[in-house]
Amino acid sequence: MQVRPSERFRGRFRIGGDKSISHRLALFGGMALGKTEVTNYSDAADCASTLACLQSLGVRVERSADHVRIESDGIDAWREPVGVLDAGNSGTTLRLLAGILAGRPFRSEITGDESLSRRPVERVAVPLRAMGARLDSTDGHAPLVIHGGDLRAVDWKLNVASAQVKTAVLLAGIQARGVTSVTEPEASRDHTERLLPAFGVPVRRDGLTAAVDGGSRLSGGSRFSVPGDISSASFLLVAALVASDGEVEVEGVSLNPGRTAFLDVLREMGANLEIRLTASEPEPVGTIVARSSRLVGTTVRAARVPALIDEVPILAVAGAMAEGEFVVEGAGELRVKESDRIAALAEGLSRMGTRLEERPDGLVIRGGKRLQGASVRSFGDHRIAMALAVAGLAAEGATEIEDSDCVGVSFPDFFQRLREGSKRDE
Ligand code: S3P
Repeated sequence: MQVRPSERFRGRFRIGGDKSISHRLALFGGMALGKTEVTNYSDAADCASTLACLQSLGVRVERSADHVRIESDGIDAWREPVGVLDAGNSGTTLRLLAGILAGRPFRSEITGDESLSRRPVERVAVPLRAMGARLDSTDGHAPLVIHGGDLRAVDWKLNVASAQVKTAVLLAGIQARGVTSVTEPEASRDHTERLLPAFGVPVRRDGLTAAVDGGSRLSGGSRFSVPGDISSASFLLVAALVASDGEVEVEGVSLNPGRTAFLDVLREMGANLEIRLTASEPEPVGTIVARSSRLVGTTVRAARVPALIDEVPILAVAGAMAEGEFVVEGAGELRVKESDRIAALAEGLSRMGTRLEERPDGLVIRGGKRLQGASVRSFGDHRIAMALAVAGLAAEGATEIEDSDCVGVSFPDFFQRLREGSKRDE
């Protein structure tokens, strides 16, 4: 895909449903007895993978556009899947499903695409084994074979904050004997803790610890409307900030505090942002307005990284456009996302003329130089493709993004939105 520079980036946008929330509503709906109705379900390929896996396990799923209806006879009715469960590119599908299947009395196997098969699964397999399930990974990766069954509760301490691993352990814990708790070193997104109670399962929270009672059963019967995906919105917001004629309003978007840390960082960098909360239960939702801004560099310290982990690629683009130094520390997790995001950003932004120094767990950018259009690689990673496309809007000359179809993993109409925002009024 070719991206041409644009001084203008304007518009009012509504974004497809949040990916993390959609995965959870689908899975919890599949575990619950009864019907669950979800509107504004994510249009991301990742969330379609979750629905397909649920169908293979005997859950009934009907979908028309963004409306999904899930009907289940409850988790005890899940049956051994006939084939291998395919999580596609989706780490969340694989890891959350592993937590549920650890408690099911049958054999299942989860696989994924080439990128997912390079990502670590032991981080989820280790606690689930400690709970009594048998999990065989392939040298630490997918395919992952699970022999589930009776589970015992654990008090699990994570070395690295991870909403996926936390959720997997809690979903296994619901099926175990006793009380299961998970403690994180820093807070990761808390959609699981907010949404399980809507299915009748209380989650006790105390600081960085979340706990559930074993033997809990989820009940359906609820309707949910998924807030817009703030991680997708981040690309349009930064496109407006770095454009000389930029103003974007994104409505109905998730404002979960576990997801909005990148807005705080952008503010520190001098971004002109307006945030209005319109609802708060079970998930905070609102409107964000971003206007052209002169940005300055800042340092993102390790403790803030879990709440903005998916936004580092687009923050790096903001950093490349900002005066001074932009630093990210304690973000080694970026190396095991859909691609090695530190290396991918280093290559892409360097090709566009930015000085970017890679660190084992972070990056240093000396920004403020006009970016140059270039031919760049996405490494098959949706967030790298979108971040470099936004960089391309602000560059001099055209930018060619290789392998840009991967944006469908989270934001299928991203390039259309990019064109809408850059289009001059006739
Ligand atoms: C997600 C958690 C994050 C994030 C991923 C989605 C989730 O990963 O990077 O895109 O929905 O739970 P961690 O498990 O590393 O927090």
